[in-house]
Amino acid sequence: MDAATFLVGVAALVLVLKVGACTTESCSMEDASGCSGGTHRSIMTDSRWQGYLDLIASSVAEYGGCVGERCDCLGDQIAQDLMVWRERGGIDIAEFEQAKARRGGVHYQIVNHTLYREEECMFPSRCKGIEHFILKIIHGLPDAEMIVNVRDNPQSPTYSGPLPILSFSKTSANYDIMYPAWTFWAGGPAISTEPKGLGRWDLKRKTIAESSDNWLWEDKRTIAFFRGSRYFLEVISYPLQLESICSIMVGIVQAKQ
Ligand SMILES: *[C@@H]1O[C@H](CO)[C@@H](O)[C@H](O)[C@H]1NC(C)=O
Repeated sequence: MDAATFLVGVAALVLVLKVGACTTESCSMEDASGCSGGTHRSIMTDSRWQGYLDLIASSVAEYGGCVGERCDCLGDQIAQDLMVWRERGGIDIAEFEQAKARRGGVHYQIVNHTLYREEECMFPSRCKGIEHFILKIIHGLPDAEMIVNVRDNPQSPTYSGPLPILSFSKTSANYDIMYPAWTFWAGGPAISTEPKGLGRWDLKRKTIAESSDNWLWEDKRTIAFFRGSRYFLEVISYPLQLESICSIMVGIVQAKQ
């Protein structure tokens, strides 16, 4: 995904939101009695979230967009994820075999510009998404071998030695090497309106924007749509997660107005 794609995605997202009316249902996992109508609060009027709203406002104010070309915008992340391997003098065969044995990912090989994959893939449509992007550039790629994690969660925690595994989602507590998600082509999240999984972001980002234009702002429902890693939600404590996302979106909408 390039930065432009991402920005268009965010812009499309913003169009379907109604500002100021961002209300989320909030109930703890331990006590669900307050759910479904019980404890609705508006994040804009609840002082507990003021700290987050301030942070969002300052981030939005400082945001300048990415002006880099090709992978420049992701350069820092790539350098950071590869640093551990640079310091160790590279990835040796034993470490690679260890990553493979852990079954934390799918084994791919590129030999003479042909892509090979182990037969098994836990989520075949995710592999399809990955292969779509690799095949687009395979003529320029050297012989290579890699373990690509197609699960939601990262596979190499920093409490044990690093494993050379490419993952689309991680935190600072993982050695995983980040790569762009498969979901922009295939293997995206399955939701009720997209039971086969939401792929083809190249098409979807246009239809979302088009349908958005067909509705007056007043007629839109107060629904926020978040597209991203479930792991991201899991690392944020549960009562916070929906409200945090909601407040991020409100912040973006406000900045656009
Ligand atoms: C790589 O593939 C090309 C085209 O099929 C072939 O001509 C060449 O001999 C192959 N190289 C090796 C090292 O196998």
